[in-house]
Amino acid sequence: MNDQTAENAVLRWTVLTLFPELFGSFVSTSLFGRAVKKGLLSVDLVNFRDYAEGRHRVVDDDPYGGGSGMVIKVEPVARALDELRRKDPEVCVVLLCPQGEVLDQQAARGLSRVQHLALLCGRYEGVDERVRNLVDREVSIGDFVLSGGESAAMVVMEAVSRLVPGVVGAQESVVDDSFGSDALLDYPHYTRPREFQGMEAPAVLLSGDHAAIASWRRKQAILRTAERRPDLLAQAVMTDEERAWLKEQK
Ligand code: ADE
Repeated sequence: MNDQTAENAVLRWTVLTLFPELFGSFVSTSLFGRAVKKGLLSVDLVNFRDYAEGRHRVVDDDPYGGGSGMVIKVEPVARALDELRRKDPEVCVVLLCPQGEVLDQQAARGLSRVQHLALLCGRYEGVDERVRNLVDREVSIGDFVLSGGESAAMVVMEAVSRLVPGVVGAQESVVDDSFGSDALLDYPHYTRPREFQGMEAPAVLLSGDHAAIASWRRKQAILRTAERRPDLLAQAVMTDEERAWLKEQK
């Protein structure tokens, strides 16, 4: 039996949000739900409105200097983080915001080695600048602006959690994915039927020849990366023969 306390999970998530209800089905369904049941992951949802003062528990205020939109106040966030760090001084606190380091597979791998990650979700125009001094890292999921950090938090949780051994059934499929250890895009996948509206599955995949299949997949991954993401090729792990072969394909 797994001891399913948060402390025993391989990776603990704490999400600090004004909308914890957004995470309900996300953390209880499919990959995430199974991993939580297995005791590999734990998720603690914290509404930092609970740390705001006064009858109305106000968490936002007008920006100094004027302008549109509201700004998340520093005090409720500070109190929530103080309590979190009192309980676990090792926790790594990540602010989701468009100004953070952009998440990629390498950053996800780094985060998957942390035992306790707390994701702070901003809302409205943003957070009081002094919140940045209270967090360990800032992460963006891309160069676009969301209305809040919650959907970004789910992206980070999914990208990172699937790298924890045991969370995805076959660990091999995680290694083979796009941006795996060789930094290439994934090769094409097919399943039944063999022919669909005139489009055939490649014969090699039905040949039973495992070496030929592995070689075809490898070449497809290289071709796809060259066609779609030539910017990735420089960091890709490829042999001299593979680079020479790629040149011949043009
Ligand atoms: N909050 C708003 N936009 C965001 C983004 N692109 N990434 C992470 N958090 C955000």
